[in-house]
Amino acid sequence: MIYLDNAATSFPKPDQVFRGMDAFVRSTAANPGRSGHRRAVESEAMINETRILLARLFGFRFPERIAFTLNATDALNMAIKGTVRPGDHVITSVLEHNSISRPLNQLEKDGVITLTRVPADQEHRIDPDEIRRAFTPSTRLVALTHASNVTGTIQPIEVIGPLVRERDALLLVDASQSAGAVPIEFERDCLDLLAFTGHKSLLGPTGTGGLVVGERVDVSPWREGGTGGDSSSPVQPSEFPHRLEGGTPNVFGIAGLREGVRLLLQHGVENVLKHERALMREFYLALKDPSVFSWYGADRVISERGGEGRLGLAGINLSGFSPAELAAILDEQFDIAVRAGLHCAPYAHKHLGTFPEGFVRFSVGFLTTADDVRQAASALDQIAES
Ligand SMILES: Cc1ncc(COP(=O)(O)O)c(C=O)c1O
Repeated sequence: MIYLDNAATSFPKPDQVFRGMDAFVRSTAANPGRSGHRRAVESEAMINETRILLARLFGFRFPERIAFTLNATDALNMAIKGTVRPGDHVITSVLEHNSISRPLNQLEKDGVITLTRVPADQEHRIDPDEIRRAFTPSTRLVALTHASNVTGTIQPIEVIGPLVRERDALLLVDASQSAGAVPIEFERDCLDLLAFTGHKSLLGPTGTGGLVVGERVDVSPWREGGTGGDSSSPVQPSEFPHRLEGGTPNVFGIAGLREGVRLLLQHGVENVLKHERALMREFYLALKDPSVFSWYGADRVISERGGEGRLGLAGINLSGFSPAELAAILDEQFDIAVRAGLHCAPYAHKHLGTFPEGFVRFSVGFLTTADDVRQAASALDQIAES
């Protein structure tokens, strides 16, 4: 099978990830922090080491302020619902995944917040001036994706961060697509909250993710319960990470995530991005006639600018085929896995003019090869000629 659906989840996972999970599950596998025996202590040490590695990856000095969650959706809900208060104004964008849009839309519908959704420009980027203009005296939170899972464009958070900080609001960044694929500098770029998922470019298993909570932010817990230590406290402890980590964490998954992050630190995230951009160029150049497909601007950037400002993904359409049909042909006749439809981001497709059918997304990853993308190009050529 040729797997080009890495934006949904990375596949295959590197061997280190399987080996790390296997070794941990067979030898340790205890409940961290719950008991004082050696295995429980080892389990806790493994989790804390993973926090340290993630902090290094994200340019963040406070590993204890990284709380593990189920995935990015969990972390985004935690960040949004744990920071906004009745009467707050929130700024978001049209490029967001439903894991930001839905909680914010519901809070707006319930009359808790007011919401401004800023547009994207022709290059599918959020212009920092749009954010500047959207501020009101009650703006508390700006919630934006670092890199869109639909347009593939990387947003200028290094400009938006300082401008949000100047206005004393909070910046929540959804790094679901960028963590492990695009360098992140949490402190340098004045971020306040960063939600990540472990199973995409961080190369870990599903069921892992986290929320990085900056120094000046308090997030109210919305999942309260056992944290191991401090059992006598009648309410959730105020210290991080326990504040946000009620319940037994996914230790098996985090053991795999630790290996994924280790590998990325050794390899260098900037090299992952270079690899993915080179593959997208290879994909484009391998097509007999790329112009028979609709690319929504990605073709120009991939062919003329080496994919600058973009992740390793592109959405395309082919006239005469619905996205669902094209993806089904690729799957059934060529054994190529891609994702068709709206990709849980309906506003992004409205921005592109591809709502409601969407497009077919091809997304490469850490272990994708040049041969994979050449075969995908050949399959597309054959479908276009049929
Ligand atoms: C931009 C973006 N945000 C959030 C998510 C949600 O990630 P998860 O399903 O791991 O919670 C995704 C997943 O596709 C995404 O692409």
